[in-house]
This record gives sequence, structure tokens and C-alpha cells, in this order.
Amino acid sequence: MVVDRIEVYLDGASEPLAVLKEPPYRLNLDTRKIPDGEHVLRVVTHFRGGGQEVREIPFTVNNYPDVMVLGLDERGEVAGTLELRLAVGEPELPVEPVRFNPIWYVVASVVVLGGIWAYFALSPATEKVVTELAPPAQEAQAPKEGGSQATASVDPALMEKGKSIYEANCAACHGADGQGMPPVMPALAGNANLKDAQMILSVVKNGRGAMPPVGAAFSEEELKAVATYIRNSFGNNFGPVE
Ligand code: HEC
Repeated sequence: MVVDRIEVYLDGASEPLAVLKEPPYRLNLDTRKIPDGEHVLRVVTHFRGGGQEVREIPFTVNNYPDVMVLGLDERGEVAGTLELRLAVGEPELPVEPVRFNPIWYVVASVVVLGGIWAYFALSPATEKVVTELAPPAQEAQAPKEGGSQATASVDPALMEKGKSIYEANCAACHGADGQGMPPVMPALAGNANLKDAQMILSVVKNGRGAMPPVGAAFSEEELKAVATYIRNSFGNNFGPVE
């Protein structure tokens, strides 16, 4: 069948929008001249020698520009001053598609996770925490295992001698039971610093801070005796002074 003409009607109009007689059958439909809402385009094809075919195409026109508010999510929680950007969606000038591009979630995740990783992997604090945590765990066991041996090898005569030196020279400040008078006089009982025997010898001989050089006149033997005593009394178990 040969097409004679095609008539295009909008909605129930009696006058056609256009009558197309020759191919290419083209029609510019300016939807801005049509009110927004539901419409029907009726295409009536007339054939040469009689006969016609009608096609109806329902469609919706929406020419009111959408206003997009960027910087405020629906039901978002906000405080302080917000910088909002309003974008008007002209049908002919599509709004830049800032909404969500999944790649930014990937990029953001990589940055955040990478930052967390870098913080833990590269921060020297981690090493410190590890080295600070690890030794006490070993120390906690050491006095039990090595401690019994250490106590066994501490010279009882040296302990006796150290005890009398301690009571005469140290107990006034550090207490008969090494309890001290915190915070001024440090306790010697349970004092982990006593692990360092050289420190004890030096502090007793030369004094330090508020502690006078109590042992300035002590012999090597007396220094060793009192250091041995405080390292292995009051519940301490640091072993002999080498
Ligand atoms: C006049 C009070 C006084 C007397 C006596 C004294 N001390 Fe001290 N001792 C102190 C004070 C105060 C400190 C803290 C010093 C500081 O802050 O550096 C201290 C610190 C120490 C420390 C170091 C503790 C630590 O945690 O680093 C040792 C070990 C010690 N005294 C042992 C002795 C011994 C052993 C004697 C006796 C021979 C003695 N002291 C006599 C006041 C005294």
C-alpha cells in the first residue's frame, strides 16, 4: 500500500498539527508549546486508494525546570552554616551529573582505608606500643622463672649487711617496708626501676633530685649490699647486683 499522507493530531484536536505528504516524514514537536501533563499523539496514515490506519501514542510533557539543591540531603542532619548550590535543570541544558558517580565512593574508600593503613603501618607510635607492650609480658614471667634462681644466688650475708645499711640510711625516707611516701619519696617496693642496678648505685652514691647523696661515703661493698637488699626485699625479686 502506498502512503498518501500522514496527519498528526495532538489530543482530540480536529485540525492536524501537521500533514506530511512525502518522505522523509519528519515533524518538529515543540513540547514547550504544549501544557505539562498527559497527552496523546494521534498519527493517522492515509493510503492511496482509500483506507487509513490510526496510531495513538500517549506521552507526558514536563517542562517545568527541576530545581536541584546540592549540599543538603533529604532528612539530613545539619548544623552551622551550610553552603548550598541550587541547580536549575533546564531540559535543554542538562544539569551536570554530580549526584553520584560510584567511582567517587571507590576513590573515597581507597583514600580513607589507605589513610588508616598508613597511620598504623607507618606511625612510629605503633612500634613503640608493640615494644612497650611486649617486654613487660616477658618480664612478668621472668621473675617467676629466673627469679627463684636469682633469689637462690643472692648472698644472705650481703642481704643482712644491706638491711642494716638500709634501716640506718634509707628507711627514714623510703619506709621500713620500702613503701616510701608517695609522691615525694618514691616507693622501692614493687618499683620496676630497681631492675637497673647501676641506677641504684649511682643514685645512692651521688643523690638525685630531692634525694641527697646518702651513700657518698659508702664503700663499693656497702653500695652493693644496700642495692642487693632493696632489689630483693619488700616483695622485689631482681636478683643479685653484678
Ligand atoms: C632524704 C630522703 C631520702 C633518703 C635518706 C634516701 N632517699 Fe632514695 N630517694 C629519695 C627521693 C626524694 C627520691 C626521688 C629522687 C628523684 O626524684 O629523682 C629517691 C630515689 C631513690 C631511688 C630511685 C627510685 C626510682 O624509682 O628511680 C632509689 C633506688 C633510692 N632512692 C634508694 C635509696 C637508698 C638505697 C637509700 C639509702 C642508702 C635512699 N634512697 C635514701 C629520698 C631519699
